[in-house]
Amino acid sequence: MRGAVVWAAGEPFDVTELTRRAPGPGEVVVRVRAAGICQTDLTLAGGAFGQHFPAVLGHEGAGEIVETGEGVHNVRPGDRVVLTWVPPCGHCYHCVRGETYICANRKRSADLDPDAADLRHGEVAVQAAMGTATFAQETVVPANAVLPIPADLPYEYAAILGCAVPTGVGAALNAGRVAPGETVLVVGCGAVGLSALQGARIGGATAIVAVDPQQSRRELAIELGATAAYAPDDPDVASLVAGVGFDVGLDAVGRSTTIRATWDAVRRGGRVIVVGAGKPDDLVTFSAAELFHDEKELRGTFYGSSNMVRELPSLVAFWRAGLLRLDRMVDETVGIDEINEAAQRQRSGEALRVMVVP
Ligand SMILES: NC(=O)c1ccc[n+]([C@@H]2O[C@H](COP(=O)([O-])OP(=O)(O)OC[C@H]3O[C@@H](n4cnc5c(N)ncnc54)[C@H](O)[C@@H]3O)[C@@H](O)[C@H]2O)c1
Ligand SMILES: [Zn+2]
Ligand SMILES: [Zn+2]
Repeated sequence: MRGAVVWAAGEPFDVTELTRRAPGPGEVVVRVRAAGICQTDLTLAGGAFGQHFPAVLGHEGAGEIVETGEGVHNVRPGDRVVLTWVPPCGHCYHCVRGETYICANRKRSADLDPDAADLRHGEVAVQAAMGTATFAQETVVPANAVLPIPADLPYEYAAILGCAVPTGVGAALNAGRVAPGETVLVVGCGAVGLSALQGARIGGATAIVAVDPQQSRRELAIELGATAAYAPDDPDVASLVAGVGFDVGLDAVGRSTTIRATWDAVRRGGRVIVVGAGKPDDLVTFSAAELFHDEKELRGTFYGSSNMVRELPSLVAFWRAGLLRLDRMVDETVGIDEINEAAQRQRSGEALRVMVVP
């Protein structure tokens, strides 16, 4: 089969021949039909998160079950599924407390046992990044990493329900606990930020302000329910917060400057949610005085703090009801041979979410 390998940090994708191992007990093989390029893939490819190389990236994917290992009961060959990059083990410290999204037994990107590698190029062991490796035609995953999807949900839309959408919607509803009538600030209008914005609207926010340097993203934010949209350096942003400030602020960029700006825009007693995946050496500064005095909640959110098994059906229902515009977020579908050009269009902001068909 074929897949896109990154041989070393910062190198482009190399579409080449791969083999995969057979599924073990409790595992399934998915023929990937659509795989989104998430900003996290591009950060991993750059080496910032300690990714092991060579690697096949991709964690936002959907496809069809082609093979099941012994003891798999939740799916059968032919089933249409979405992949989740945090398959809940069900028995670790976090899973038993309902925090399935931070399951302690998730495969880490830095781990690779060369003898048990999922993927190989000839004899060379290739890391299946985030345990999902959706930029390959076939991927071997635990059975609890796949969730069945309805027949009328296109693979491209299903794929984005694997990362950007639950991350953003969950950031607003699970981590941010957006309530009817609240005011919400969304900083960064990529697929994650625009999902957060739609989550805030679903939660009943009456004022949703979007911030993004790109005009096309601001226009899309308005179309998807923002009540106003500004560039980060727009003086109007300052005047918006000159009063009490926002009830909830969501950072969907992941830089110390945007996290700090989001904090500053939130009211005393409000909630500041960090969704953007920042770098380990990028430090954010808060004074000891403001932390207690301003009474703000500062919370990170991993995978939108989403219990995917429980929440996937609601996300599909929001899509059916026209409340979640997946069609406005997936703006390009390309074959895997075009993955480098597509990644570049996404980096530059020309494309919002590219779906790769391996
Ligand atoms: N927490 C999680 O579990 C999780 C999951 C998925 C993605 N992420 C992270 O979420 C972030 C967003 O992902 P994405 O795929 O939507 O990325 P993206 O690159 O498509 O979107 C980022 C947006 O931020 C905008 N931006 C840049 N500088 C800005 C500024 N100063 N102020 C406001 N906006 C600014 C860009 O124009 C762009 O529209 C990334 O950091 C990604 O790694 C986190
Ligand atoms: Zn992602
Ligand atoms: Zn667990």
